[in-house]
Amino acid sequence: MDKFLITGGRPLHGRVVISGAKNAALPALAASLLTDQRVILHNVPRVRDLSTMRSLLEDLGVDSSVTHEPRGNRVEIEARQLLNPVAPYELVKQMRASVLVLGPLVARFGQAKVSLPGGCAIGVRPINLHIKGLEKLGATINFDHGYADVRANGLKGTEYYFDTITVTGTENLMMAATLATGVTVLQNAAREPEVQDLADLLNKMGADIEGAGTPNIRVRGTGKLHGAEHSIIADRIEAGTFLAAGAITGGELTVSQCDPEHLASVLADLEMAGVKVVRGVDDPQTLTVMAGAKLRALDVTTQEYPGFPTDMQAQFMTLMTQAEGSSVITETIFENRFMHALELARMGADITVNGRRAVVRGKTPLSGANIQASDLRASASLVLAGLVAEGETVIDRVYHIDRGYERIEEKLTQVGASIARISESD
Ligand code: EPZ
Repeated sequence: MDKFLITGGRPLHGRVVISGAKNAALPALAASLLTDQRVILHNVPRVRDLSTMRSLLEDLGVDSSVTHEPRGNRVEIEARQLLNPVAPYELVKQMRASVLVLGPLVARFGQAKVSLPGGCAIGVRPINLHIKGLEKLGATINFDHGYADVRANGLKGTEYYFDTITVTGTENLMMAATLATGVTVLQNAAREPEVQDLADLLNKMGADIEGAGTPNIRVRGTGKLHGAEHSIIADRIEAGTFLAAGAITGGELTVSQCDPEHLASVLADLEMAGVKVVRGVDDPQTLTVMAGAKLRALDVTTQEYPGFPTDMQAQFMTLMTQAEGSSVITETIFENRFMHALELARMGADITVNGRRAVVRGKTPLSGANIQASDLRASASLVLAGLVAEGETVIDRVYHIDRGYERIEEKLTQVGASIARISESD
């Protein structure tokens, strides 16, 4: 397994280009199952989860091809036929987002057999709300040996209220509803930009969706979708992660080709924590974190979009270890998303975790150590810690970070970080 070797203490300076959003590209690839015509996607990030999703589509019998473009990958998919409506345990266990093929398969082919995701590092991750919604649309579900076997003889529009706001649940049901007869209204839907980007793609494919980005999404079934071409939005979490990297190292760092309006809550909290971020005047798709931030402690609570994103919680915790004062970080989305706190404590951070609440007492100097990544965003928070720690940090199991960050060590090196990938074979 690859490791990262980081030598801390170097302020970052320069410009980083933000890649396409992993969490927009994954549902976009799944959406291609809804038509027998070619779907062409641009700005698809070169990260492991997208390779996993392509493998899953190929297992289903769907052709896809990838070509390098200046901005990310161009992925072409043509789901002319379905050989095998099964999303196997081995793939779903690797990547919970595999569940996103469920809605499209049931809507277009009338059947899907998807392994229940089981747990992952950050929580139980059930899909009961996806299943309940498909039942409301007229599907029948059998649970069999850890799989959800979903059948439908055509789906029928309905009204469905999400008991809990779920991003992929909203995406699954929005995709399924595009081929249902009649109108479906999804209430208490997720409002994430990635949900909106998926709706944009589906409408380009001939769907009739209104209200994506609001809590109420209305989908009028159009019976059939056609091919389309679409460019994936920028990754707001990657952008937020690099802004935090600039802030924690005290450098001046610009992130480009990002969508600042998707980062409003993160920018507001960074500002309150003493970080000055300026939006580009001549290029509104850039954000620059100014040097010399004097970090102040700030309480943060994660919330569904447009609130402070859970996917930025770990990165923000690392930042708060360098702020004067105590910060209370409350994680409301997942039940076990503080594993990075234990590794940060080994580097000298003073963090007390109590259930969904963590108290960070700063400012504490961090010293380099051998640490271990546990999940995608926790890995990013450990990289940030290594960048500011005194001495060398070795982060193990960086395959976690490769799932969602494109060549992070190359992008960091370009702006002055001392970070190298050590492959096991080295
Ligand atoms: C999406 O996961 C993202 N993944 C996650 O990003 C992100 O952390 C999460 O949304 C929250 O923003 C993708 O988009 C591929 P949820 P998702 O369903 O959809 C509960 C990353 O780092 N719930 O919104 O799986 C669930 O347990 C990843 O890129 C149910 O109870 O998350 C959780 O507590 C990590 N029943 C809450 O809802 C269900 O049927 C929100 O989960 C579904 C969810």
